Amino acid sequence: MTRQGVAVLGSTGSIGTTALRVISRQRHRFRVAALTANSNAALLRQQETEFAPAYVGIVNSDEQRPGGWHSGAECLIEAATRDDADIVLNAIVGAAGLDATLAAVRAGKRVALANKETLVVAGALVERACREGGGEIVPVDSEHSAILQCIGTRPRSDVRRIILTASGGPFREWSEQRLADATVADALRHPTWTMGRKITIDSATLANKALEVIEAHFLFGLPYDRIEVVVHPQSIIHSFVEFVDGSVVAQMGLPNMELPVLYALTHPDRAPDDGVEPFDPVKASPMTFEPVGYARFPALRLGIDAGKRGGAAPAVYNAANEQAVALFLGGLIRFGDIPRAIASSLDKLGDMAGETREELLAADSCARRLVMELF
Ligand SMILES: NC(=O)c1ccc[n+]([C@@H]2O[C@H](COP(=O)([O-])OP(=O)(O)OC[C@H]3O[C@@H](n4cnc5c(N)ncnc54)[C@H](OP(=O)(O)O)[C@@H]3O)[C@@H](O)[C@H]2O)c1
Repeated sequence: MTRQGVAVLGSTGSIGTTALRVISRQRHRFRVAALTANSNAALLRQQETEFAPAYVGIVNSDEQRPGGWHSGAECLIEAATRDDADIVLNAIVGAAGLDATLAAVRAGKRVALANKETLVVAGALVERACREGGGEIVPVDSEHSAILQCIGTRPRSDVRRIILTASGGPFREWSEQRLADATVADALRHPTWTMGRKITIDSATLANKALEVIEAHFLFGLPYDRIEVVVHPQSIIHSFVEFVDGSVVAQMGLPNMELPVLYALTHPDRAPDDGVEPFDPVKASPMTFEPVGYARFPALRLGIDAGKRGGAAPAVYNAANEQAVALFLGGLIRFGDIPRAIASSLDKLGDMAGETREELLAADSCARRLVMELF
């Protein structure tokens, strides 16, 4: 079998390191063509030694950058468009991952997409770039991987609606008053998933679920009124698809990103992998479901409404959220300020033009600036 080359963007993060673990068990199928990081040179060096990629890039390089490494934001595009990369695993966090996705699909690559912000900021542009360049997006997010697996080869017209599951995050049972002053340590204590810091905060505000609703809208071509969310605290069922005849298909597995990462690399095939812990339905019991607390988690409704509004609104939502999360993680604002910052940004900037990449990036910058001015 010819091994497929994988460019791993964001290789030093939570998904990036998970992907390298998966690839190291699947070396007969995959080889690492390229690795990139933002600034973690020490881990990147270890990964270079272990996987011997032809290309290594670090965006924010310092004097310690070894000879032969590429630097600056251009390295993401170079890594994403290399001839020896058949698949680009985009595990960058935030809107910083957008240009690499666009470049990869324009170059006809499969993008295994963890960087959901790409589709939130510029879903329509990514769709067009896929059509023009022949590339494709295969989701890494466990919910979207689940939906893809449930739909299988059925036409979209067979799908009545999809239901994304949400763990509910660490604050599922907290009151509104207590939530306003939740600390960074509280918010980073996710009950079921171990992930990077930004997505962990997004899971606490439920902004993550809003990003996923928008992601699902673009990936599966469904209107927003056919995408629903339900809280499932055990994170075993990763999502449901209801077909037009009323039959509901769900995909399940332990909360471990190795499986969706592997599936994104092999889709529609399945690769034997004995590294994933076997599923035991008895241990996974009981499985429970609850309605979402939209009133306590305003970031969710704000995001879904921004998705429906379209144009630059989802990009504004995303940028305001990224900036507010960074301020919260830095101890500069309160937990309850995150949705407030998003709401103000959407009020003031939600109608900005948002057709081209340049317009979307302008909306992104304005939203970040506005959030900085608010506090
Ligand atoms: N973690 C999960 O379980 C999970 C599940 C589903 C979806 N996702 C999505 O996957 C993406 C990555 O999440 P994560 O949890 O793996 O994040 P993470 O642990 O923070 O890792 C982010 C990666 O991106 C790199 N990076 C950060 N800023 C960058 C920039 N400006 N330019 C280029 N590279 C940059 C980081 O490099 P340094 O290490 O050098 O800073 C790191 O390699 C997010 O979009 C998230 O929503 C994650």
